[in-house]
Amino acid sequence: MSEQQIRPWETDRDKLNKLELVKLERDGLDIIDKIRKLAHQGYGAFSEEDLSFFKWAGIYEQRPKGNGLFMMRVRIPSGVLNKEQARALAAISRDYGRDLVDVTTRQAVQFHWLPTECLPDVFDRLEAVGLFSYQACGDVPRTIVGNPLAGIDPDELIDTRPIVRELEQHFLLNREYSNLPRKYKTSVSSNIYNTGHAEINDLAFTPASKEIEGEEVIGFHVWVGGGLSAKPYLAQQLDLFVRPEEVVKVASGVTTIFRDYGYREKRHHARLKFLVADWGAEKFLEKLIERIGPMPKKGTDRTVGWNAGYFTGVHKQKQPGLNYVGLLLPVGRISADDLDELARLAEQYGNGELRTCNSQNILIPNVPDEKLDGLLTEPLLDKLTPNPRTFIGHAVSCTGIEYCNLAIVETKARMLAIANWLDENVELDTPIRLHINGCPNSCGQQQIADIGLQGAKVKTEQGMIEAFDIHVGGSLGPDPAFNKRLKGRIPAERVAPVIAHLIEYYKANRQPDEKFHQFVRRVGHEVLQTQLDQILATTA
Ligand code: HEM
Ligand code: SF4
Repeated sequence: MSEQQIRPWETDRDKLNKLELVKLERDGLDIIDKIRKLAHQGYGAFSEEDLSFFKWAGIYEQRPKGNGLFMMRVRIPSGVLNKEQARALAAISRDYGRDLVDVTTRQAVQFHWLPTECLPDVFDRLEAVGLFSYQACGDVPRTIVGNPLAGIDPDELIDTRPIVRELEQHFLLNREYSNLPRKYKTSVSSNIYNTGHAEINDLAFTPASKEIEGEEVIGFHVWVGGGLSAKPYLAQQLDLFVRPEEVVKVASGVTTIFRDYGYREKRHHARLKFLVADWGAEKFLEKLIERIGPMPKKGTDRTVGWNAGYFTGVHKQKQPGLNYVGLLLPVGRISADDLDELARLAEQYGNGELRTCNSQNILIPNVPDEKLDGLLTEPLLDKLTPNPRTFIGHAVSCTGIEYCNLAIVETKARMLAIANWLDENVELDTPIRLHINGCPNSCGQQQIADIGLQGAKVKTEQGMIEAFDIHVGGSLGPDPAFNKRLKGRIPAERVAPVIAHLIEYYKANRQPDEKFHQFVRRVGHEVLQTQLDQILATTA
């Protein structure tokens, strides 16, 4: 492709923000070599501009900025990890990352505290086991989320592992896609319970079937333009049926549309969702067909529900005699030793694999029936239990003020305390999903929670204190909707009892089998607002 074809947006430089102008001069991926060359000289070897490109290598400066310590995200496509990879992650964390690994809401993992000098060695160690931090952040295709049960799942129509592998190879370090207007998130799943959280990705493939020439073909439907953060959008479905072997073609078509037509004027208005919202699904499809050629129209949607990415407990695989065991990682955090031990358990009881989930949990697949009892009596499973109590078992948290420069409040310890308090004090027979964000950026995917908490500050007589806005009623899957904010900011220490009150109200007024988000939508947001007003008034 000629330079001009690759950069049609360059012609109107007034429509480019500051970073876009820099991106015309430097390819973000060049930072990887620069880090390899200069990291031994330490933090001071890098300019501020260099540091802004570290994201392309999957690296962020951690809080406080300027101390030469980084967080690094590693792509785990569809959450599939083998034991060598798990051990390599544990060793990196032990040697450089103060023994800590976080599983994120997109099945990736994150290290903290990495000093500048170690970065080339970390790249090497990751590459040696087929893992990459490259493009885990930055304006590029990010890690591909998907079904953590791919290949073993009784509820999937096809095994999506080869497709995800092919897509990952297509996207990774591909300079066709190294200068997108903004981050770009892809989801591929063939599980009928929407394990890939399709609606909140820029591009998503969901299970579908279609009769073509008298034969039922299994494939995908395509969704574009979903995303969270301050202005969340649900993805829109295109009138398109995609055979498994055409996924890469469609994905590259969608990605180049984003590259060439995506907005580059304001960074907060650059995600694909804004283009899709303006164009609508029909025009988007027209442009896509112009690029990739004719495609069959939509078939039958095969998604039937949403499991929110939760797999704790022991479950049968599609292979007779084999099981997967879903384990809780409280708020997604695990120590290096525990991750090593998990790798050992996976080797001893399974086939050495682990799978990360977008609920920030982990599972051990391929455990034969006769080895289950042994696995379930392992001491680590007391801590990373397959049978968690309900609130801690459904609690998701972003990184928060411990490491994140954008955070307003502490999140992980806060969510642990809230969930544990609720588990001690509230009886509940059905899960309520709690998500927490330290700022409006949605790394904790607050908008899809039954109850979402967003960090803020409030002024009190004692000065500014940590507080939360509370949002209720979010869900994906059939009838998806983001949760809505209730007015009234809640000081951090009152959050747990306030949630308990709302849950008691739900318990007293729900219909049989009604989930919390269904209840909120039936009775209406205002009813919950009245409840919150009452609680806040009683002990203000
Ligand atoms: C601590 C370093 C981090 C920084 C600086 C950061 C920054 C951001 C920013 C600025 C956004 C808004 C993006 C936008 O407007 O498009 C965002 C969204 C998001 N981040 Fe992070 N993030 C960090 C860590 C994390 C972690 C630990 C996770 C997973 C737990 C995560 C997952 C996400 C997700 C799922 C979104 C929503 C994306 C969407 O709009 O669809 N991030 N992050
Ligand atoms: S939601 Fe905000 S505070 Fe939390 S990790 Fe993302 S950017 Fe940081």
